[in-house]
Amino acid sequence: MDARAIIARKRDGERLSGDQIRWFANGLANGAVTDAQAGAFAMAVLLNGMDEDERVALTLAMRDSGDVQNWDYPGPVLDKHSTGGIGDNVSLMLAPALAVCGAYVPMISGRGLGHTGGTLDKLDAIPGYRTEVSVADMRKVVGEVGCAIVGASGNIAPADKRLYAIRDVTGTVESPDLITASILSKKLAAGLEGLVLDVKTGSGAFLSQPEEAVALAKALVSVAGGAGCKTAALITDMNEPLASSAGNALEVANAVAFLRGDAIDSRLWDVTVALGGVLLEIGGLCERAAEGQAMIAAAFQSGAATECFGRMVAALGGPTNFVERSGDYLPKAHVVGEIEAPKAGFVTAIDGRALGLAVVGLGGGRQKQGDPLDYAVGLDQLAGLGAHVQAGDPIAVVHAADADALAQAKATVLAAYTLGDVPGDEAPLIVKRIG
Ligand code: URA
Repeated sequence: MDARAIIARKRDGERLSGDQIRWFANGLANGAVTDAQAGAFAMAVLLNGMDEDERVALTLAMRDSGDVQNWDYPGPVLDKHSTGGIGDNVSLMLAPALAVCGAYVPMISGRGLGHTGGTLDKLDAIPGYRTEVSVADMRKVVGEVGCAIVGASGNIAPADKRLYAIRDVTGTVESPDLITASILSKKLAAGLEGLVLDVKTGSGAFLSQPEEAVALAKALVSVAGGAGCKTAALITDMNEPLASSAGNALEVANAVAFLRGDAIDSRLWDVTVALGGVLLEIGGLCERAAEGQAMIAAAFQSGAATECFGRMVAALGGPTNFVERSGDYLPKAHVVGEIEAPKAGFVTAIDGRALGLAVVGLGGGRQKQGDPLDYAVGLDQLAGLGAHVQAGDPIAVVHAADADALAQAKATVLAAYTLGDVPGDEAPLIVKRIG
């Protein structure tokens, strides 16, 4: 087979056979496909789409491009995955809460993609924390602690690992077919028994329209279910950041404040608890999601999830007193400045993608493959939709490497905020459940 012929077929809007898709996925993993060919393939799929059979074939071929795990734990092996958002640090809190409730959570996460943040980049802000571990180490940590949030190291879905990094820098992230194959190849290779997907919709999501998010959720639930992993999806709002912080170390600090009960963003709490409830139901740890939500809330309120998070950080090489002393460990930006509201009013719209790109522009995300990150930079104290501000009140705080970057981020963030005389309509946070 020939990569050029496969790319040209998709470029011309034709269907690919299972064999062609498997060949391409293997070529991504073994190097027979070049970066340029992978980028062109991704663009052809983005522009011309795939049908259900092609999507299933690509997902399974990417899963089978590496090892498929098999765990042997005394409880259900569960995980959650988000399609990507801004200020979305749910995984940091949810993984330990699920573990406290009796689940085993080998959470294989990704790096930042396009304008959205990535869980692994956030965890890399913790000194010593190893996001790249062997499967044997991951098995040990999950067995002892109940959860481990790490990267798809070793040989887990290597085809996705490569394509993900190429999509990130070729404008090809927003393809529902590629998102489906990317998310599910990793998750299915992780040998899960149950999965909950947080499918984002709104200005900060890859797919901004609710009907696109619903279509993606249905595709994800059906492909995962067909591959033997019980799966449900929640469509959740991403018209504003979920946490009040966006940026790697800042989101870790926000997660620690949540876990310690020092400061809890209410939307973040609601989404975390809702996802956890569904997953405990899927995993058979409770009868109904509502009961599961109460279990997750209790895991936070009792401090057990906080303690579990601390043990996970330590087991993966981070400081043993990280939860108590995170402020001493997390990197800090050189310059910090408030962004002031230019006039009084209600926040009626936030361009989430622009906020994400502001974080990338500060150095908190990648402009091109392999770019090093500045973990300290980002935004916090972000005003939410419906907030009322007076002229001169802060709507966000920028953490930057220097004064120029600070000025640029201020301009981007100001342009991303719309202030009006009356509050806008409130969109539901959890739009619907699929599956
Ligand atoms: N998360 C992934 O793992 N892959 C995508 O393509 C989007 C979100």
